[in-house]
Amino acid sequence: MNNKVINGGKSSKKKKKQGMPMNEKDARIRQHPILKFDRGKKIRFFFKGKPVEGYENETIAMALYANGIRTFSHSFKYHRPRGMFCAIGKCASCLMEVDGIPNVRTCITPIHEGADVRPQGRDSIIAKAGYFLMNHIHMGPGFYYRHFIHPGFLYQFYISILEKFIGPGKYPTKVKNPPKTVKKEVETMEAEIVVIGAGPAGASAAIYAANLGAKVVLIDENRYIGGQLIKQTHKFFGSARHYAGIRGITIAKQFEKEVKSNKNITLMLDSKVVGIYDGNIVGVLQKNRFLRIKPKKLIVTTGAYEKTLVFENNDLPGIMGAGGIQTVMNVFGIKPGNEALIVGAGNVGLILAYQLLQAGVTVKGIVEAMPTVGGYFVHAAKVRRYGIPIYTRHTIVKALGKKYVTGAVIAQLDDKWQPIPGTEKKIKCDLIGISVGLRPANELLLQAGCEMKFVSALGGFIPLRTENNETTVKGVYVAGDLGGVEEASTAIMEGRIAGISAAMSLGYKAPDTEEVLEKIRKDLADLRAGPVGERIRAGIKQVLIEG
Ligand SMILES: Cc1cc2nc3c(=O)[nH]c(=O)nc-3n(C[C@H](O)[C@H](O)[C@H](O)COP(=O)(O)OP(=O)(O)OC[C@H]3O[C@@H](n4cnc5c(N)ncnc54)[C@H](O)[C@@H]3O)c2cc1C
Ligand code: FES
Repeated sequence: MNNKVINGGKSSKKKKKQGMPMNEKDARIRQHPILKFDRGKKIRFFFKGKPVEGYENETIAMALYANGIRTFSHSFKYHRPRGMFCAIGKCASCLMEVDGIPNVRTCITPIHEGADVRPQGRDSIIAKAGYFLMNHIHMGPGFYYRHFIHPGFLYQFYISILEKFIGPGKYPTKVKNPPKTVKKEVETMEAEIVVIGAGPAGASAAIYAANLGAKVVLIDENRYIGGQLIKQTHKFFGSARHYAGIRGITIAKQFEKEVKSNKNITLMLDSKVVGIYDGNIVGVLQKNRFLRIKPKKLIVTTGAYEKTLVFENNDLPGIMGAGGIQTVMNVFGIKPGNEALIVGAGNVGLILAYQLLQAGVTVKGIVEAMPTVGGYFVHAAKVRRYGIPIYTRHTIVKALGKKYVTGAVIAQLDDKWQPIPGTEKKIKCDLIGISVGLRPANELLLQAGCEMKFVSALGGFIPLRTENNETTVKGVYVAGDLGGVEEASTAIMEGRIAGISAAMSLGYKAPDTEEVLEKIRKDLADLRAGPVGERIRAGIKQVLIEG
């Protein structure tokens, strides 16, 4: 392997080729007004055969990002470069081959000394020739499905050729550095209550069920407890009774303490639930084993994904979800870019603006399609105090750049939400943060067979459920953003309701449990009260069923 370490010392030409912005040196943040970053020991791994420096507490994609690399994968048809988008293992734009294993989500996979990391499916001569051709032939949607099926006897041949181009990589023939102990047999385990997701909803559900005496297994694919909270450096908004004024990262730490000190909770981190099978059996994949857990009750709290927007060039590296950017800078301490544009002036977009400033990024503006700012006045006022322009009644029309973002064009909207010709404005930036809402991460509930309904006010397809948060599948409960995108404070209340209800259905009850439950319901109603909660209340009415 070549020994030249990849870092900011590259020539401009080479940097451009790698798909990295100019002037990028080690992008790790050394000083932050709120956060301290525990990166652990320095380690060395290999990217395309060249050594790269990283730290043991970083993931592969984060270490590459810190070294200025922005392109992690390529699209199939036109092999367009793709960068990180979600940074939480939910979008597939960072899939790479690691130690011979294809399709590794590098944004959530920790690096290890000597790891061999490679982009997938584009280095062979056949692939390059194929890409060249594909870039010059117009192939409409469904082209391959219509044309590569005839004559039937050539089908397998077509597949073998197409496989050379596509993102999913090669079937591994040799795995380097395999885990030292891999258990080949599937282990089976029984549990009273399994909670999937250790965000505010799941952690609350586990704590409240365990406090009543139920034995709970709490599972999360991350290495930490807290879900979205671990990147929230701002003081929380909402009711004074519900963590308002406390930073999200502090609330996450409180959850961690409570969960870890509770003897009734078995915590499984770094463990992904890959499926819910017949009889609500939960399949859990860990680094070196696969577990089948059969719970008496199941609480699903897998949160939500960030949505994206349709505009020209919306897939360029440097265009990320707001939460993805927060993960890069607030969890891993890496400066996500030099100049940013944010799309969406809800609370998340506004908060992102001043968190970017804390990370040393210049914020060029916030674009908002609505006539007014959607987030709280206090956040908008703070953003304006820093001199960041908020362009209401504007949208992003296109991102500029070939291998990564170099700018954006925004334009004013007319009454029909169409860009007004002549109002276009070019903004130079190397980072675009998309903050246009979330959609529930509902796959596991669909596998479980829960009946769902599309409720726009709550972010998408959400499960029908009783007042106790039980879905249409008996014994399967839901809480948090998965049951409708709201806030951490409501997720916590819903988690408590689901946890108590599941425990009570197993016969666990304290003398004041009914009273506690009633109080939580009242708190939840207070959080959803007033004109701000009107859409949410109407949305919930649509999915509420008799218990
Ligand atoms: C930028 C931003 C600012 C915010 N600010 C505020 C605020 O000030 N006040 C407020 O109240 N709310 C705020 N929120 C909203 C709040 O963070 C979310 O509503 C809340 O985190 C939802 O909690 P949850 O437990 O439902 O989901 P999450 O916090 O998303 O947790 C879901 C968990 O499930 C895990 N998971 C998912 N799938 C699997 C699987 N298959 N196997 C194992 N584990 C899995 C995930 O790893 C994650 O840890 C903010 C959100 C953002 C993005
Ligand atoms: S899955 Fe890694 S960036 Fe989305």
